[in-house]
Order: sequence, then C-alpha cells, then structure tokens
Amino acid sequence: MSGPKRYYIETYGCQMNVADAELMGGVLKREGHVRVDDPAEAEVVIVNTCAIRDHAEQRVIGRVGQLNMHKLERPGVRLGVAGCVAKELGKELLELAHVDFVVGPDSYRHLPEVLDRVDEGERVVLDRFSRSENYEDLEPYRIERCAAWITIMRGCDKFCSYCIVPFTRGREKCRSPEGILEEVRRAVQDGAREVTLLGQNVNSYRSGDWDFPDLLSAVAQVDGLRRVRFTTSHPWDFTPRLVDAIANHPTICEHVHLPVQSGSDRILAAMRREHTVAWYRERVAMLREAVPGCALSTDVIVGFPGETDADFQATFDLMSEVRYNFAYVFVYSPRPHTPAAAIRDDVVPHEAAVERLEALNALQRGIGTAYLLEKVGTVQDVLVQGEAKRGLGLVAGWTEQRETVVLPGDRALVGEIVAVRISGLSGITLHGEVDRTDSREGEKLLELAMLDASA
Ligand code: 5AD
Ligand code: SF4
Repeated sequence: MSGPKRYYIETYGCQMNVADAELMGGVLKREGHVRVDDPAEAEVVIVNTCAIRDHAEQRVIGRVGQLNMHKLERPGVRLGVAGCVAKELGKELLELAHVDFVVGPDSYRHLPEVLDRVDEGERVVLDRFSRSENYEDLEPYRIERCAAWITIMRGCDKFCSYCIVPFTRGREKCRSPEGILEEVRRAVQDGAREVTLLGQNVNSYRSGDWDFPDLLSAVAQVDGLRRVRFTTSHPWDFTPRLVDAIANHPTICEHVHLPVQSGSDRILAAMRREHTVAWYRERVAMLREAVPGCALSTDVIVGFPGETDADFQATFDLMSEVRYNFAYVFVYSPRPHTPAAAIRDDVVPHEAAVERLEALNALQRGIGTAYLLEKVGTVQDVLVQGEAKRGLGLVAGWTEQRETVVLPGDRALVGEIVAVRISGLSGITLHGEVDRTDSREGEKLLELAMLDASA
C-alpha cells in the first residue's frame, strides 16, 4: 500500500448513494485514509454519481470535468467516478471525463487496491456486478451521528420499464437480519436516535424466514432507538402485515413514501408497475385506517410516452384525492437499456411535459402547505439534527412526519428529541420553540410502559 491519503467524496442522487459514500468511507478509513471536506485538500477525489435521469447524469459528468482542475493544479491528485454512472458508462468515462478510476456499486470493497494500482500508473475500471456482494461485514463511516442510514438490500428486481436502476445496481440482494440488527445496535451505541432502513424496494426484503415486516418490527425494538423509518416502498409489496407493524410499534415513524408514478392504469401498465390505481388506493386506505395520522409522500413521472391529457388528468385527480404531504414530480427521461426508451410513438413534447410537472407541483404546493399550516399551534417532537443553515442561535431538526423545524437552540440540543411548540411557517419550514410540557413521544412512551405493565 502506498500510504494514507486524504480523500474527498462528493455524492449525488438518492439516499442509497449517501449510504454508499459512508460505505466507501468505511473501506478507506480501515486502510488509514483520511476524509476531508474540501476537494482542494484531497489527494483522492471521488464523485459518487446518479444516472436516474439524463439531466442528473449530465450534471455529474460536468462536475467531474470541473474537478479535473485539481489534477491539473496538483499532478499527484487522483480522480475517480463511483455509483450508477460508473456502472453505466464504465471505461467510456476514462476518455469522456479523463478520470483515473471508475468503480461501480459492487466494487467499493476494492477501493484500496484500486488506489494502489492507480499509483502504479494504471487506469482502473471495476464495474462488474457481483451476485454475492452486499457489504455485510463492512462498517460504514458515518458522518451524521443522530440519524443513520442502514442499507438492508441492494439492487432491484422490479424492472419498471423506464428505470435504469436494475441495470446500474443489479439484481436484488438482501443482507441477513442478524447483520442488520447488529449494525443498528452499533449505530445506537454511537449516538443514533433514528435509523432509516434503505433499499430500492424494502418491501420485497427476504432473508430465510424473515420478510420486511419481521425485520422492521425487530429493528423497532432495538434498545435505545427512538425512531425507525424505511424507504422506498413499492405498492405491490405493501402488505397488511407491514401496516400492522407501523401501527403496533410506536418507534416506527408515521411517514410512508409510496411512489405511485401515475394515476392512469394504461400508463401504469406501460410502465410495468404491476399495480393498478385501484390497488394503490386500497393500500392508502388500509394505511390510513390503521394509522390515521400517517404522512404520505410519493414519486410521480409525467410525460411518459403515450400519456394523454386524460391520463395526466387522472394523475392530477389522484393527487387531489390522496392529498400527499409531499410529492416528487419528474419529467420522464428515456434511459439506456430500458424498454421504455425504445418507444418511438406518442412521445410527449418536452414543453407539454414541463407544463404537466408545473401543474402538479402547484397542486401539491397548496396541499402540502395546508398540512403544514395545520401544525401551527401544535406541539411536535423534533429530532434536532444540527445548527440551522441560516441564522445564529438556531438549530434545525425534523418531526416524526419528516417536516423540517427550526428553533432557537445551540449544539447541546443536537441529537435530542424535544417537544416543540410550532409557531409559524415560512416556505416549507416550520418554526417553533421548545415546549417540554407536552410531547406526543412522551405520551407514546407512557402508553408503552402501560402496555408492558399490563402484559
Ligand atoms: N425518468 C424520470 N423519472 C424517473 N424515475 C426513475 N426513472 C426515471 C426516468 N427514466 C423516478 C421515479 C422513481 C424516482 C426515484 O425517480 O419516480 O420513483
Ligand atoms: Fe426503478 Fe421500479 Fe426498481 Fe424503483 S421499483 S428502483 S422505479 S425498477
């Protein structure tokens, strides 16, 4: 090995990439390499990329180009690409972006050898899938202490017709429940109050006899853990047992991200989503019946080939009816390898798709704001996450439903769950002050204690 180096990782895309950056950090730390926050101080610069839409991909390729300046200014600097674009473009990136190494999502374990080989003058591309690699034994290097991402599975077997993920992250691979629970316990020992179980479709988790509700329920009972979240869910595998788990464990947050993608059955079929709108409605009804206060968020794609005004109207109507707390709306982007990219007929013009996106965003803004305004005057439990970006003497955190709250306070509050009386809203940020007299979490813990006592 050629000695410890300072490394910098810049991450784009989903939470899975954020978790993977921590995994790469763990691999590099084990070899004595040191993390820095400024690429100008680094000897190794890694861009951890996203390929989900063409725009995301172009943006990261542009950013790799900019980061090349560090190589020009300091000739010893090594530049590499990780993540989904690394898998998608592989060795093409060597020429396209003048990088020294390319590591796909299944090759992070080999980063130290890659750096050694690069030091010997090689340009290295490791972009093969591995059937077995799930990083079970590797400890991520977490930067955030009070909220931890826990990857429970990698890859996706759903093959929605528009989605590149099965091609960049490969087939589904689940970790063992023992390994996951052990990682959760260690994260709690290190200060985590909240964990988020992560996977492209956590609901299809399976390991031996364990399915996702089993795993979620076991994680929810880890000593000292206050909040558990999970993302992302596919409606097809969203079962009554999962809803029961959410309803029965006070530590499982009342927030579900349940992507619908479209409100039209015709488009859902073309997207190969496996579910219909009626099926989706039933899942929502089941969830809301069992967990009335549950926040719901979603992903929607507009401008999928063949989407007519009537199909779009069906999406608009569904969003008006479901009334999500939050929605991410995307313009469809054709991606390599995907079956939808081969559709040449009925392509929706870009301007029309953008208009649809804006209409849904405007609808959602109204609905989302109404939910947030309902919180003004109430007391919410807030996990304080860190100092607020703007404003001295302010800290920011989030509620169980994942709304951001800013309140007066200092670093001593970080990692605490405090009862906050909400006093106002600006944009999508709630404001408030600590109010320790009333806490829903306190009530829940009391309920639990009473249950224990009566058992
Ligand atoms: N074009 C636009 N949006 C996409 N998504 C996935 N693939 C595409 C694509 N080709 C969206 C889906 C998914 C979210 C993570 O990204 O809504 O749920
Ligand atoms: Fe992509 Fe569909 Fe898998 Fe989600 S479930 S990652 S949209 S293929």
